[in-house]
Amino acid sequence: MQAPVRAPEDILVALIFPFKGLLPNIAEDAFIAPNATIVGDVTVGAGSSIWFGVVLRGDFNRIHVGIGSNIQDNSVVHVGDPPTDTFIGDNVLIGHLAMIHGCHIESGSFIGMQATVLDGAVVESGAFVAAGSLVAPGKRVRSGELWAGRPARRVRALGDQEQTMIRRGPSRYAELARMFKKDLSSSP
Ligand SMILES: CC(C)(COP(=O)(O)OP(=O)(O)OC[C@H]1O[C@@H](n2cnc3c(N)ncnc32)[C@H](O)[C@@H]1OP(=O)(O)O)[C@@H](O)C(=O)NCCC(=O)NCCS
Repeated sequence: MQAPVRAPEDILVALIFPFKGLLPNIAEDAFIAPNATIVGDVTVGAGSSIWFGVVLRGDFNRIHVGIGSNIQDNSVVHVGDPPTDTFIGDNVLIGHLAMIHGCHIESGSFIGMQATVLDGAVVESGAFVAAGSLVAPGKRVRSGELWAGRPARRVRALGDQEQTMIRRGPSRYAELARMFKKDLSSSP
């Protein structure tokens, strides 16, 4: 079940720890900020970026982060009790200070800064969770919908603004990550 142990040399400065013999499996070209903390059964896919101060704690269940996704500064990603793992798909944007706990964030969805998504919730592909929202346990944010508030409710269908953010956000962050990775790798 667990992928092979591997940690590219240029990210060894990040805090990457094994737990119960499982070490995070991180793609060679992912950007991991030096003070991010990644523990245990965690996979980070190609071109994804894990920003400053982020914690990914895969201890009693697994965390999957797909390809081209970004998890921005000081966000926390943890797991629920089995079988409630945490899944973050491809090209997902997770804003600063988010709390992602035992839930599934499908490919091409957007989690605004300081949003919380709780156990068993699903944010479908192409859905948008507004900044500061709290998606309650087990809720399903459907594709094409904007949810906001605490607790979050459906506000309306996505407008042009949100669709543009979903489309452009991940590639913008992927480019930024490439720049950071290059600069940090060449620092003395
Ligand atoms: C979803 C979002 C784009 C909507 O912004 P907006 O265009 O100003 O929203 P609207 O004009 O459609 O607002 C409709 C109503 O919802 C309210 N509203 C807007 N954003 C809200 C939010 N995040 N939470 C709660 N209510 C919100 C507005 O105040 C407005 O209320 P009113 O009708 O009583 O005046 C914005 O709130 C957001 O979440 N942006 C994400 C930014 C982010 O996290 N980026 C990631 C880091 S790079």
